[in-house]
Amino acid sequence: MNLIASVDADWGIGYQGQLLCHIPEDMRWFKEHTTGKVVVMGRATLESLPGGRPLPQRVNIVLTADNNFFAPGCTVVRSPEQLLEELERYASDDIYVIGGASVYALLMPYCHYAYITKVEQRFPADRHLANLDQQPGWSLVSVSEEHQHEGLSYRFCRYQNDLSPEE
Ligand SMILES: NC(=O)c1ccc[n+]([C@@H]2O[C@H](COP(=O)([O-])OP(=O)(O)OC[C@H]3O[C@@H](n4cnc5c(N)ncnc54)[C@H](OP(=O)(O)O)[C@@H]3O)[C@@H](O)[C@H]2O)c1
Repeated sequence: MNLIASVDADWGIGYQGQLLCHIPEDMRWFKEHTTGKVVVMGRATLESLPGGRPLPQRVNIVLTADNNFFAPGCTVVRSPEQLLEELERYASDDIYVIGGASVYALLMPYCHYAYITKVEQRFPADRHLANLDQQPGWSLVSVSEEHQHEGLSYRFCRYQNDLSPEE
């Protein structure tokens, strides 16, 4: 299982229900990695997508505790147990956990790789990802050169979790 996220210098990922910044190349990177795959998200992240609609050309799995929540084009699961059972239907390599904070925290121990776009700047943030540089089992395995967009500097990083079930 994989995790994919963009973080700022403090590992912030969101503010008031939205992303911290928009970097077109990062959007393309996300699309390239996840198209044709299975994306797993929390209900709030689904609602943050354009029009609150699922991502095209992907299997969209959405976690909620609300029995009355239905989302066209999505597989809705209503507990972590039901989510893990649903994910057993897919090859682990094909699964991408796309957020937000609560779903990252829930599934991080099951993820073997994390694709992290690290933005050098700091933003106001009310949602964070655990700092993978300090998480037991996780190590940084590759870092791109620095990229720039409208005054923002960022790098594409890949982390590996040696404590995940795949090991
Ligand atoms: N930077 C990035 O890469 C990135 C990626 C994705 C999202 N984000 C940002 O992250 C923020 C959203 O994150 P978030 O943590 O607030 O929301 P989230 O994880 O997207 O969704 C939270 C919702 O998921 C459901 N949920 C979570 N754990 C559950 C459990 N154990 N059992 C049942 N349902 C559960 C609940 O839905 P119900 O309330 O319906 O029960 C909960 O309210 C936004 O600002 C978004 O833009 C950033």
